[in-house]
Amino acid sequence: MKVLIHETRETATGCAAALIADRLASEPDVVLGLATGGTMEAVYADLIARHRDSGISFARAQSFNLDEYIGLSPDHPCSYWTYMRDKFFDQVDFAPGHTHLPRGDAPDPEAEAARYEAAIVAAGDIGLQLLGLGANGHIGFNEPTSSLSSLTRIKTLTRSTRAANARYFASDDDVPRLAITMGIGTIMRAQDIVLLAFGEAKAKVVAQMIEGPVTAACPASILQMHRKVTVVLDEAAASAL
Ligand code: GLP
Repeated sequence: MKVLIHETRETATGCAAALIADRLASEPDVVLGLATGGTMEAVYADLIARHRDSGISFARAQSFNLDEYIGLSPDHPCSYWTYMRDKFFDQVDFAPGHTHLPRGDAPDPEAEAARYEAAIVAAGDIGLQLLGLGANGHIGFNEPTSSLSSLTRIKTLTRSTRAANARYFASDDDVPRLAITMGIGTIMRAQDIVLLAFGEAKAKVVAQMIEGPVTAACPASILQMHRKVTVVLDEAAASAL
């Protein structure tokens, strides 16, 4: 695990965006694993600027997002499909059909999860996976006690995760209770992983992830077992290390 501690979240964001840009330059048809959440918004803004100003291109790349809420269609304003279109896809040059998220409105979510896992395998697995970190140690929506070898499947969101994400919805009750998420085993097959965490609120869980025991109680701790993980932190998120 390589841990990079930056003075500010701005330079940390730039560092993560540069890792992605470098990978695209050396491997234009890379399969990117993408994440949502507040931390990622600045990463996508940085990549959009690099696309506009430095000509980095996603035209040959593919992307698979980590997760989607069950019950929300791709057009729902709070779906991760909408987040990705608004904050990234509509402003860069992915080829049509090269960006993938699970369908939250699939009539059979279990079959949709299996289809999504198979699509990732068929694409040759993820080359570079971008991850955020839930305050409870989740990656994707793999909540504490998730099987450390799980594949894409349905997960019930914890009360704390629903509360953390309620800011995106009109009311707490509107936050879906279930999601389809890549499994921890799916994520661990990625060649390279870049995880970002910022702010003091993440300091404790960052320390658990990096220095604590490998345990399903903190799903991100499994990253200690991955060969090529880069953790990018600001000083506040690194303050309990
Ligand atoms: C959601 C996403 C996670 C993300 C987490 C952290 O729960 N499913 O993939 O890592 O939010 O979000 P934030 O960056 O807003 O703290």
